[in-house]
Amino acid sequence: MNSLKLKNILDYNNKTLVLTGSSGQLGVYISNFFLNLGCKVYGLDKVKKKSFYSKNFFFKKVDISNEKQTSEVLKYIKKKEKKIDIIINGAAYNPVTHFSKRNKKELTLTSNTNIIGTINLIKAFYKIQKNNCKIINIGSVYGVRSPDFKIYGKKDRISSEIYGGSKAAIIQITKYFAVFLSKYNVSVNCISPGGILNKVKQNKTFIKKYSNKVPIKRMGKPEDLSMALLYFSSELTNYTTGQNLVIDGGFTIC
Ligand SMILES: NC(=O)c1ccc[n+]([C@@H]2O[C@H](COP(=O)([O-])OP(=O)(O)OC[C@H]3O[C@@H](n4cnc5c(N)ncnc54)[C@H](O)[C@@H]3O)[C@@H](O)[C@H]2O)c1
Repeated sequence: MNSLKLKNILDYNNKTLVLTGSSGQLGVYISNFFLNLGCKVYGLDKVKKKSFYSKNFFFKKVDISNEKQTSEVLKYIKKKEKKIDIIINGAAYNPVTHFSKRNKKELTLTSNTNIIGTINLIKAFYKIQKNNCKIINIGSVYGVRSPDFKIYGKKDRISSEIYGGSKAAIIQITKYFAVFLSKYNVSVNCISPGGILNKVKQNKTFIKKYSNKVPIKRMGKPEDLSMALLYFSSELTNYTTGQNLVIDGGFTIC
């Protein structure tokens, strides 16, 4: 690139993003973030969010654990837009109960969504385009470390063993595809957020206990991921691949 002008770096007007989990807490933020940069956003989710973002947002109801559905929707997007520039694998399931109560359905749903869903998407992309793309997987601090069970009360949503296992798998899958797709000008990276504040799902005691464990003394906000999203989606960072960036206020370093 000859002119490294900030306005060029931030110009996403001709780019198309495919984002899974677009109706979720982070999905809504990520959609709006890229829409504000001028990007077209295809939001793939099992559930439709009522709020309408912009004329550049296109919702597609898809269960990413279903290979056929995933492949068909990617084919449709590629045909319409000619190219897919960015893929963000954000959809996930986390059965937030004690592991002793875990049933087969929850185990299957978590693996099928978090691991197989991510593979389905990358496989579908490989078949229809193969090259020139920035893939960002969303991991979690619980793919890197265990939850501290002392901070959970009886009614709190405990991050599950299968969720953590699936997120560790995502970090590894990131490395696998980073190597495999490197010759096609595709970089594959992972963002692993710490706990994001959610006043509907978390109570005050939990928020306080979690925050006390974080050196920065607060839970994360969706905005905390902004620059990582920009970094990993930029063509200026093609030399960065297979990485897992933990964004957690220091939660995993102590
Ligand atoms: N919120 C956090 O504290 C936090 C922390 C670390 C990592 N993460 C990760 O960030 C990502 C987004 O988290 P979030 O808080 O927005 O989650 P969320 O539960 O609010 O949203 C997840 C979305 O994925 C969708 N989804 C689930 N299964 C699907 C399937 N089979 N096909 C299509 N869509 C499906 C859901 O309908 C939902 O809209 C997830 O990968 C999550 O593991 C979140």
